[in-house]
Amino acid sequence: MKGNNKVLLEIVGLRKTYGARPVLDDINLSIHKGEVVVVLGSSGCGKSTLLRCLNGLESIQGGDIKLSGKSLTDKNVNWQEVRQQIGMVFQNYDLFPHMTVMENILLGPSKVQKRAEKEVMEQASQLLDRVGLLNRKDDYPRQLSGGQKQRIAIVRALCMNPEIMLFDEVTAALDPEMVREVLDVILGLAKQGMTMVIVTHEMGFAKAVADCIVFIDAGKICEIAEPDEFFSNPKTERARQFLNIFQY
Ligand SMILES: Nc1ncnc2c1ncn2[C@@H]1O[C@H](COP(=O)(O)OP(=O)(O)OP(=O)(O)O)[C@@H](O)[C@H]1O
Ligand SMILES: [Mg+2]
Repeated sequence: MKGNNKVLLEIVGLRKTYGARPVLDDINLSIHKGEVVVVLGSSGCGKSTLLRCLNGLESIQGGDIKLSGKSLTDKNVNWQEVRQQIGMVFQNYDLFPHMTVMENILLGPSKVQKRAEKEVMEQASQLLDRVGLLNRKDDYPRQLSGGQKQRIAIVRALCMNPEIMLFDEVTAALDPEMVREVLDVILGLAKQGMTMVIVTHEMGFAKAVADCIVFIDAGKICEIAEPDEFFSNPKTERARQFLNIFQY
């Protein structure tokens, strides 16, 4: 396992229902600091719901989620604080259209975290440089490609200095030629030791970036394995069927 052995995010017996329908059932998973967990599974199995539960966008009906040992189901949890530690990027980069790239990035750190503008701008510039977009800092989102907007959305989340990043199919809405540039940014983050939970349908990327693959089927964890093991020797029939679709 990569990183040290400190458990950063712990999911214990998590259960999520919509009405009477169970969507996540007895999910148990420990994510260690510096670890990259890739969540795979067919459409509708519960991947997005799981990520949404992890940063409080969904209520849960059973079990617990702990961040650095602190329960997030405690009724006194300050979600605004917790969400600063858990960054999330979705399929549809939701940049504010009337703000420049830099204004979009500065918003959270200055308004929510009340950090000094000079310090945040320096950090934002460094992060923009790292994703190759420093020269676009004064552009508006409409002037950027999908891949560029998605890289900005990643920078915006990183600028809050999160402990862990959640990515939900961040390349799914992109043209194929823009997928690589976004995946490369995430691979770079993995190399720097960022703790991440990534939902993706890009199997080559999953294999390259993951320390651990979590395969979900119908709301349950079906397999947890190292990527080499999962892709070459899946243990369950469901995982084999899933990989066949991707011709892996
Ligand atoms: N707000 C909602 N109300 C009722 N059911 C929902 C809601 N959101 C999701 N579901 C159901 O929960 C299940 C899991 O959905 P989820 O979006 O987590 O799947 P997913 O694995 O992310 O799929 P995909 O790969 O297509 O994104 C699905 O059966 C879906 O229909
Ligand atoms: Mg989804």
